[in-house]
Amino acid sequence: MEQLTLIGPLNQVIPMTGMPIKGAVSDSQLRIIENAGILFADGLIKTIDSYKKLATEVKDLNVKLIQLEGNHICLPGFVDSHTHICFGGSRARDYAMRNAGKTYLEIAEEGGGIWDTVQQTRKATKKELIKGIIKRAKQHLRNGVTTIEVKSGYGLTVKEELKMLQAIKEADEQFPLDFVSTCLAAHMLPRDFNGNSSEYLSEISEQLFPVLKKEKLSNRVDAFIEKGAFNKSEIEPYLSKAAEMGFDITIHADQFSVGGSEVAVKFNAVSADHLEASTSNEIELLAKSEVISTALPGASLGLGCSFTPAREILDAGGALAIASDHNPGSAPMGDLLTQSAILGTMQKLTNAEVLAGITFRAAAALKLQDRGKLEAGYLADFNLFHTANFNEVLYNQGAFKPCIVYKKGKLIYNKHNS
Ligand code: NIG
Ligand code: FE
Repeated sequence: MEQLTLIGPLNQVIPMTGMPIKGAVSDSQLRIIENAGILFADGLIKTIDSYKKLATEVKDLNVKLIQLEGNHICLPGFVDSHTHICFGGSRARDYAMRNAGKTYLEIAEEGGGIWDTVQQTRKATKKELIKGIIKRAKQHLRNGVTTIEVKSGYGLTVKEELKMLQAIKEADEQFPLDFVSTCLAAHMLPRDFNGNSSEYLSEISEQLFPVLKKEKLSNRVDAFIEKGAFNKSEIEPYLSKAAEMGFDITIHADQFSVGGSEVAVKFNAVSADHLEASTSNEIELLAKSEVISTALPGASLGLGCSFTPAREILDAGGALAIASDHNPGSAPMGDLLTQSAILGTMQKLTNAEVLAGITFRAAAALKLQDRGKLEAGYLADFNLFHTANFNEVLYNQGAFKPCIVYKKGKLIYNKHNS
């Protein structure tokens, strides 16, 4: 048995327990445990209770005490369930061109867009990719993210997709955050592929999927369903193959035009992400299903377009996660706390809904049942903020970051030391 540790006193612990996975939630549904302590061991939470009570109970035991000075509140470690932080190069030129009024097509014609990143990523060595992933993961850690999903999708050949997924796996081994990898070989038809979309997707499912299984590189398959990417009839055989092989499915859906969310529901996807273009039909369909709807405010901010209709999704009874979509093109910011706070302001979400979206609802989008909440048996993944009131966190719209981050019971970030 590992060392028992008691941390506290904490003005407030917000455990995110007792809340539904789907639908609107009011701030009065947020539980607040005041003057609390957290007792943990073996990377897991044992008890959360009054600090005084716990301190008395453990007095004669061999317990490590972490006594905090000043005001602190505690939230679960955040889960960023959708990123593309494995890439080479930069797309600063795209950003400038877009803001100067160039269209998506014009930017692509001048050598920008996803294809530009594909070429830069292919040029990078696996080691360089790992370095880039870890650099960006550090930025996410400063935001309190303790679990991060990372997609491939800038390799677009069997060999190059494998290089990306191996880089993600090695970054996971080298860095204390948990990385959940997803195969996004269906990001676009690579311009240098000798064949059509269906032929490309068949090649990927036949040659890449078995290796992913064998080498345990990923158990998730994503696809971008959109004009200029893949359509319903091209993607369905690919997703059927993925589902048959036991992969979880997630979809880049309804970003600019509708269609993807219907496929997500049909295939019982774990999540449908983007949804900026979803109308009441798609929202209804998603809300009735078990698919988690993921808003990506970073892409709206990066592209200067409308936000995912998060309020409507919740009011229809849907499950809403919020993720950063951190990528070199549409979402270069990579700041989940800022983006989710802004989504809350723009979509009139309660603090409870925003926090649910980056904790247990985002964990559900990754099918992770052991995190996103603070209670006995859950991972000891938590963030401390230097304040007496948790409402200060979103109120500061991302400018207020955690001072201390614990991952599986280990201190992995202390603002004062870095
Ligand atoms: O989630 N929508 C498609 N894919 C990414 C953008 C990738 C890129 O522009 O490099 C997204 O926004
Ligand atoms: Fe994305």
